[in-house]
Amino acid sequence: MNAVEASANVRDQKPEKAAVPDEIPPELAANLAYYESQDAVNTYSFYRFLPEEEVLIPKYFKVGDSVLDLACGMGRTTRLLHEMGMHVRGVDRSENFVKLTNQRFPYLDIRLGSYDDIQEEDSSFTNILIALNGIDYAFPETQRVKTLKECARVLKPGGILIYSSHNLKSLHWCSPYYWRSLRWKFRNGFRAFRTRSYVWEGSECSLYNEPSYAVRQTEETGLKLVEIRGFNRFKSSRIDLYFSPYIHYVFEKPGTQQLPARRRAENNG
Ligand SMILES: C[S@@+](CC[C@H](N)C(=O)[O-])C[C@H]1O[C@@H](n2cnc3c(N)ncnc32)[C@H](O)[C@@H]1O
Repeated sequence: MNAVEASANVRDQKPEKAAVPDEIPPELAANLAYYESQDAVNTYSFYRFLPEEEVLIPKYFKVGDSVLDLACGMGRTTRLLHEMGMHVRGVDRSENFVKLTNQRFPYLDIRLGSYDDIQEEDSSFTNILIALNGIDYAFPETQRVKTLKECARVLKPGGILIYSSHNLKSLHWCSPYYWRSLRWKFRNGFRAFRTRSYVWEGSECSLYNEPSYAVRQTEETGLKLVEIRGFNRFKSSRIDLYFSPYIHYVFEKPGTQQLPARRRAENNG
């Protein structure tokens, strides 16, 4: 299914989505329409950390930190960070998600907004999280670059950005982690020779990129890589990083206001 067909499919199934203006590119229109659906609400309403988040969040974020949870979806990580004792603000572009999350958790601070135009002061948050590959739904890619620049602007010196992103290399060799059909694997496996590519999965379209590309693009904003983490299945970080469908990245904004990330991680550990 190509982008135009996929977008048309989503609109056909859900006639009310015709409200999405035609001039929006099909990739973005399909994503916007999907977030209005009950299926999307169910998919993103699981309130537990991913295994990599369980390691990285206590390692780099502290009780009492201010955290901006961008693309917070149904408030999964916003709620968990709040319960850990952080001052967390969630931001998402989906009106549906923001409305439902505010109804479910009225005690949380959840706002409507886009991560490429963050309505916050410079150097105002200790940490930023973009969980579950939320940054990959930026479309076109210039929006992703703007988002990373916005994160660099809003973070305090010494602050930490954690995000996860789809790993293009994992599309090689029909990675065992994908439940998609053989046809999907075959078609998308060839994309793994590139550095980045938008990939359709069901009704959603998102960016997959090579880890070195993601690191370079983020470091161009002035943030510095601290840690990369893939799945922990093969007990070899090299193999795990290759096969992981998504990878977690930890970056730091250089500066002296806080302990450097590595020392903070040691103290937390
Ligand atoms: C895969 S979901 C991740 C949800 C959430 N972070 C989680 O961990 O459960 C992607 C989210 O990105 C949001 N999103 C996409 N583009 C956005 C943008 N420009 N600004 C803010 N949020 C956006 C979508 O509305 C959706 O909630």
